[in-house]
Amino acid sequence: MSRRGFARVLSAAAGLTATTGSSRLLAQGPALKELVPSGWLIGAAVNQNQSDGRDTVAVDLITRQFNTISPENLLKFQSLHPEPDRFTFEAADRYVAFGRDRGMAVIGHNLVWHSQTPRWVWDGPDGALADRTTMLARMRTHISTVVGRYKGRIRGWDVVNEALNDDGTLRDSPWRRGIGDDYIARAFEFANAADPNVELYYNDYNLATRPEKRAGAIRIIKDLQQRGIRIDAVGEQGHWRLGAPTAADVDRAITELRATGVKVLITELDVNLLASAGAPAPGQPPSPESNPYADGLPDDVQQALARYYADAFRVLLTHRDDIARVTFWGVSDGDSWLNRGRANYPLLWDRQRRPKPAFDDVVKVLMTWRP
Ligand code: XIL
Repeated sequence: MSRRGFARVLSAAAGLTATTGSSRLLAQGPALKELVPSGWLIGAAVNQNQSDGRDTVAVDLITRQFNTISPENLLKFQSLHPEPDRFTFEAADRYVAFGRDRGMAVIGHNLVWHSQTPRWVWDGPDGALADRTTMLARMRTHISTVVGRYKGRIRGWDVVNEALNDDGTLRDSPWRRGIGDDYIARAFEFANAADPNVELYYNDYNLATRPEKRAGAIRIIKDLQQRGIRIDAVGEQGHWRLGAPTAADVDRAITELRATGVKVLITELDVNLLASAGAPAPGQPPSPESNPYADGLPDDVQQALARYYADAFRVLLTHRDDIARVTFWGVSDGDSWLNRGRANYPLLWDRQRRPKPAFDDVVKVLMTWRP
């Protein structure tokens, strides 16, 4: 190991004894936030059991490992604004306080999306879609209230989430049908007006695997720039699978996205080990064929996952000046949204919250990269 690498190990170990003393934390190994390039944010999406402090093992892990958090569900439209005149901020306030208390960069996710948004937002009279003026007014009220409330406390917002189809055309979401293609520009304007200092992001998935979708994201960024509307970064969600995207795909995606001038974020990183076909309907038991790892992950797959994560981080590190943040979509395998009735293993900590080989390999890559 290089001198520098060794110094990093030592300082990571010093951080351990300074912050803990508890064997539960010592068992976690080194902290990712102490190993990433300086200036990088590294984080996880947290759920309410975590931000409310009930899941104490996960809370220790999040506190020790990460310098940023994202809200898995708590700041979505339906969580904050279930009815036109009713906002529900209690759990969201606790999420923001959780991050601020720990000196973390607190992320907002998200303001405008076709999913997890209550019907009333888009409804007009007699079952029709609301007209442009009405829908824009609702969008503005939501954005100005929510962004305004957390002004100075939230670092950045996913302003628009998943506006694209896989072929790069604009998704025909109710927002677009009601307002028109400029709904994206208006959302960014409203967010900027509510907090001129908060970072503003466009966030989507498959930007690394699908060049035509990435071209669509680049069109959105350039359109905002041409209109003189601020956008600070683009998020590739990073819902990846073993082998897709490849390291070369990730490299190309970051290069192309960064060429627009905005920074790149990996916002929802996880690696799905199960086929999407065969996922059970909600509440139904999975078929045994669709749930191959119900009794545990075979060692060869465990090692392949570790290699995939290591390769991914190696590429991310070659782009260390292009990337501002890497956020995992969850902390441990048991928390992941990818289980859905099956046993999936997409993250760096296992169901017992023990670090997996993928964690060890990511740590090794982080300890040995050279500037
Ligand atoms: C997911 C959450 O993880 C789940 O708990 C919820 O049931 C559905 O949403 N893209 C996004 C995230 O932008 O908000 C989604 O989160 C995962 C896909």
